[in-house]
Amino acid sequence: MTRISIPQLLEKQAAGEAIVMVTAYDHPGARAAERAGVDMVLVGDSGAQVVLGYDATVPVTTDEMLVLARAVRRGTETAFVVCDLPFGATEESDAQAVASSVRFLKEAGADAVKLEGGNASRLSRIRAIVEAGIPVVGHIGLTPQTATALGGLRAQGRTTASAERLVAEALGVEAAGAFCLVVEAVPAELTAVLREALAIPIIGIGAGDADGQVLVLHDLLGITEGRAAKFVKRYAAIGDDMATAVAAYAAEVRSRAFPGPEHGYAASEEAVAAARA
Ligand code: KIV
Ligand code: NA
Repeated sequence: MTRISIPQLLEKQAAGEAIVMVTAYDHPGARAAERAGVDMVLVGDSGAQVVLGYDATVPVTTDEMLVLARAVRRGTETAFVVCDLPFGATEESDAQAVASSVRFLKEAGADAVKLEGGNASRLSRIRAIVEAGIPVVGHIGLTPQTATALGGLRAQGRTTASAERLVAEALGVEAAGAFCLVVEAVPAELTAVLREALAIPIIGIGAGDADGQVLVLHDLLGITEGRAAKFVKRYAAIGDDMATAVAAYAAEVRSRAFPGPEHGYAASEEAVAAARA
């Protein structure tokens, strides 16, 4: 099985076939995505929250992301693997951004990296990484790494100024060389405008119809606790299933219903007698 290539992703876009992206952070998650036949797997820095228990994406380090990324890579065969560059991995300079991206390719086998934002310094980072020969996915709209500066985790592009800024950023990200753009928490009408303005595929999350969609795996599986963002659709309640299964196990351990004879090993009578003696 060969891995999906960027030209194949662009062919899907040209054919009007929706591109399917989902996040994964470990081997079983990657296997589920692979078995489902998704086109792209994102090792998102959302893993900071959904698997590492941080309360935001900002704290996760490149070293931590690399552990997750390697597990995901080992679980995929055909899916195109994109790795998020975490906060702090690109902020200092273009050279730092290239060095961080190189680590995701060399140490984790990433096919591309993704970075947030579209201001002048972000565009400079994208250009530098692309010039180094590394495919880049952009990410604009709600950008969780800088959510505090955006005024919180809130939809973007709802005012004239914000909508104009998003169009400028999208055009900038494309001109800087990104081959794909994630647009998060933006009104569908604005996404439609962006799709007309850009040639590269737009992967939406909370952005209405787009060339493709992405969701956080643990959100769609119903593992994430608490209130989900408006744009999340839960396709299962795995978190409840996990807790229910562990509770059933705990009850059977306490009642000594587990383990049963079928969970153990047989010994010959002679061996038992010898052990007694
Ligand atoms: O980290 C993440 O999961 C993401 C997606 C929501 C696009 O960046
Ligand atoms: Na992310």
